[in-house]
Amino acid sequence: MDKTSEKPKSFCTRLCQGKLCIPLIAVTVLAGIAVALTTVLTSSSVRERFPPDLKWWQKSIVYQIYPRSFQDSDGDGVGDLPGIISRLDYFTYLNVKALWISPFYPSPMRDFGYDTTSHVEVDPLFGNLFDFDNLLREAHKRDIRVIIDFVAGYTSSDHPWFKKSEQRIEPYAGYYVWAAGKTLDNGTTVPPSNWISSFGYSAWTWSKTRQEYFYHSFTPSQPQVNYRCTELREEMKNIIRFWLERGVDGMRVDAIAYMMVSDQYYEDQKPSNKSGTQWWQLAYWIPSLTQNVPDIGLVVKEWGEVLDSYDDSDSDTDHSKFMVVELYDPPKIRNRYYAYGADMPFNFDLIVTMNPVYHTYCDAICIRDVIQEEYDTLPDGKWANFVLSNHDNKRASSRLGSLYTDALIVLLLTLRGTPTTYYGEEIGMEDIVVSFAETRDPWGINYGPDHYQEVSRDPARSPMQWNSSSNAGFTEATKPWLPLHPNFRTINVETEKNSTEMATIKLYRDLAILREEPSLQYGLLTFGDVTPSILFYLRSAQDNPDYLVIINFGNMTLTHDFSGPPVSKAQGRVKVATSAAVNEKRFYLNSAVTLSSVTLNPGDGLVIELQH
Ligand code: GLC
Ligand code: MG
Repeated sequence: MDKTSEKPKSFCTRLCQGKLCIPLIAVTVLAGIAVALTTVLTSSSVRERFPPDLKWWQKSIVYQIYPRSFQDSDGDGVGDLPGIISRLDYFTYLNVKALWISPFYPSPMRDFGYDTTSHVEVDPLFGNLFDFDNLLREAHKRDIRVIIDFVAGYTSSDHPWFKKSEQRIEPYAGYYVWAAGKTLDNGTTVPPSNWISSFGYSAWTWSKTRQEYFYHSFTPSQPQVNYRCTELREEMKNIIRFWLERGVDGMRVDAIAYMMVSDQYYEDQKPSNKSGTQWWQLAYWIPSLTQNVPDIGLVVKEWGEVLDSYDDSDSDTDHSKFMVVELYDPPKIRNRYYAYGADMPFNFDLIVTMNPVYHTYCDAICIRDVIQEEYDTLPDGKWANFVLSNHDNKRASSRLGSLYTDALIVLLLTLRGTPTTYYGEEIGMEDIVVSFAETRDPWGINYGPDHYQEVSRDPARSPMQWNSSSNAGFTEATKPWLPLHPNFRTINVETEKNSTEMATIKLYRDLAILREEPSLQYGLLTFGDVTPSILFYLRSAQDNPDYLVIINFGNMTLTHDFSGPPVSKAQGRVKVATSAAVNEKRFYLNSAVTLSSVTLNPGDGLVIELQH
């Protein structure tokens, strides 16, 4: 929105904004029609003008805890639920009000909990259900919501359901995706089709017991459940009810794109002709038969109904139950999940694009386009979201370089939409280097000693860095389950909190508090004239101060004029600035800044308040 061309605020412009405006004289006569108009006008620019009724998951940051790596309480080198409880005050400090906890269910840990043997218990490694209830109670006491990880697409091959399914014991016989092999002319039996698993090689594995193949989107120890089986479907809904009864606030649905496969098990996928891929890799094929098949929508809809049936929100309390689904597809595909009933599909576009390790460099113009695409493609009335890192990818600060650690936080926490923070991001944690011998991630192990680094997710899963004592305060054990980053003596919660200087954690906290301002929480986002280095945008909500966000994503010091549209102001006040900018005394918090000439080093980011 161009502020310079904004009409004076009258009842008329508030109501319908400029071009749709009804002459003021007619307003009295047409008041009734006008009121009706406000309710039917759905263009976002109109909606933004009034404080929307936001749900808790639209107001808070969602913070992802990878429980193995967050806090160990019993000295076994692996984080656990009592460990998380002992750290809950940390979230009050950070002003984070929603936690998503990656799986803590019983598991042989071949994929670290994304391979469950029960969906309704806690693995002894992490504690027990009593600990979980305690965690929930303690979190709620602090006004913090807790979201569980719903691993709904597959179980461990050790799950009792699978054992019984292999033996064709009812009602379990149809709980998984089974198919007879194809018999070739020479008499040999091969998998029903060429479907490939995400971790490489055939997605079909032979069961000696059942004498049939079972399908798995990931490792063979993660057989896919069959949502075409009514009993299984009901079983999964009961699992959701089980956690809702305990009081959880919602769920992150794991690997939604893979939730169901086509029932045409014998049909082959077509090659994608993607360069650099080989037949045994998923990307070599167009996954039309195994990913995002339309029937998934019916399942998501049913889950949404279960969640809604536990929503007893009234005008004073917001007890809405939240569903976010995990998939890596572009808006055209992922936005279908809004219509299916999810509150939001994770938007991983900033992970996928801002990834010089695998892709071409994404400059500030590219970042702007990725963000704008999210807003432009969002179905009407739906809520955007952004993610920079998670347990499946390299950390953002390692992808771009530590020079941009703070800038990335400024970006994530000032966009319009729910941000998800991966544990440690708020202090600037970076990826560790892991030898093949130390590699624990099945994906890495599967790729072997020469290629494991291309895919292993261990580097981003190192223990949380709490302080500068041995093992960073993560564990009393001599050795944590994955090595600590050697930088933990300087990059850790305590050192950063107690520093007399600006530090990443303080920047994060300042932003987490500032983003409660209406303009940052729900106000419009308008990009300025972005250059390949300088990203800048204005956040504005009516009757509130505007905020100008400026980031230098380039590699040179640059001086830029921000006083033109959409800012159209000569001066502002620095509310938040990245650590180096403050510590090198180039900017002073709460001081005036002249917008016609702002000099920014690479990695500098500022949030500037503009008074009307
Ligand atoms: C999801 C999880 C990932 C896991 C995969 C297979 O994508 O995020 O960590 O490996 O499912 O279980
Ligand atoms: Mg432990």
